[in-house]
Amino acid sequence: MKGVILHGGSGTRLRPITHTEVKQLLPVAGKPVSEYALEDMIEIGIREINIIVGSVGADAVTGYYGDGSKWGVSITYTHQPKPLGIAHAVGLTEDFVAGDTFVVYLGDNLLNGGIGKLSDAFGEGRFDALVALCRVNRPQSYGVAELEEGRIVRLVEKPKQPKSNLALVGVYFFRPDIFDVIRTLKPSARGELEITEAIQKLIEEGRNVGYQEIKGWWKDTGTTEEILDANRLVLDEIERQIDGKVASETGIIGRVRVMSGASVDAQSVIKGPCHIGSGTEITHSVIGPNTSIGNNCRISGVEIEDSIIMDGCIIEGNREMRLYESIIGTSCKISKNSGIKRASKMIVGRDSDIAV
Ligand code: DAU
Repeated sequence: MKGVILHGGSGTRLRPITHTEVKQLLPVAGKPVSEYALEDMIEIGIREINIIVGSVGADAVTGYYGDGSKWGVSITYTHQPKPLGIAHAVGLTEDFVAGDTFVVYLGDNLLNGGIGKLSDAFGEGRFDALVALCRVNRPQSYGVAELEEGRIVRLVEKPKQPKSNLALVGVYFFRPDIFDVIRTLKPSARGELEITEAIQKLIEEGRNVGYQEIKGWWKDTGTTEEILDANRLVLDEIERQIDGKVASETGIIGRVRVMSGASVDAQSVIKGPCHIGSGTEITHSVIGPNTSIGNNCRISGVEIEDSIIMDGCIIEGNREMRLYESIIGTSCKISKNSGIKRASKMIVGRDSDIAV
């Protein structure tokens, strides 16, 4: 079996962060969202993976994953010039798949517990395609499945009036004949070739489309709230690991990861669950819970809670700054204005969201 990870799309709902960062590379508990997809694939024995990259941020994706040797797998890339739909992206991988079975993983989806059970069921060979379903509160934001007598009878993409609360999770197992179906698709109302419609066509042809309901959590990290939520959920499962230099163990409370080369001074408190990236220096601060700090940051005199701080940030709060539910992009600098004017000085990019 082969694997395809989708890394294209434009990430408009995650602006402003996605003006400068690739949405699937946003760090959750210290790792890009899409690396969890890669790990899930490796866990079920997949060794050949193709990543679909779009025209925005492709270099960052190829730069991060390279040829896959860091993970002991082969990674190749397919360029999708425009985000013309998930089925369009999948259609571009026919040469890579080369007649094998394959799993497609949307690079912005995070699944608790991996894809082992799905892979086992598909491996039995009964199904022409296998999808994962999850009960959600707002099914109209997803592909939605209608079931009858334990079988999927209809799949509709983002229905205005959903017939169930079973959303299609962004993990799909296919046989190579899905490419013939994709060739027959026409663009949907939103101008995309929809994977949901391709699977619906399989159902209409009387093919055996199986499903499994996901019992753990599932996150489509399409919005800033969902990214922060995913960060909380993944952090909730980490173990305590102190590889960096910690001046006082009493200040490190609960399941905290301090990576090698990081340091925390005796005047700081880190409340788990919390991830502190390598090379990061924390002084006079209270960090956590539910917070991921990237690599090589300098954090001083600030309280940070429920947040994601990406690599290379400098935050100097002069012991008067509190950040919560914040996402701070790579190499940002935030400091307390120590001037006489009691005012904030801001150099802020388009679509930013700031509460002072
Ligand atoms: O997350 C699950 C949902 O994903 C499913 O329930 C829906 O049925 C499915 O259509 C999809 O809906 P989204 O609206 O969330 O899809 P989105 O446009 O966010 O794209 C999903 C991923 O695929 C994302 O990582 C970007 C990538 N992508 C998307 C398009 C449209 C591409 O690589 N190329 C594309 O052309």
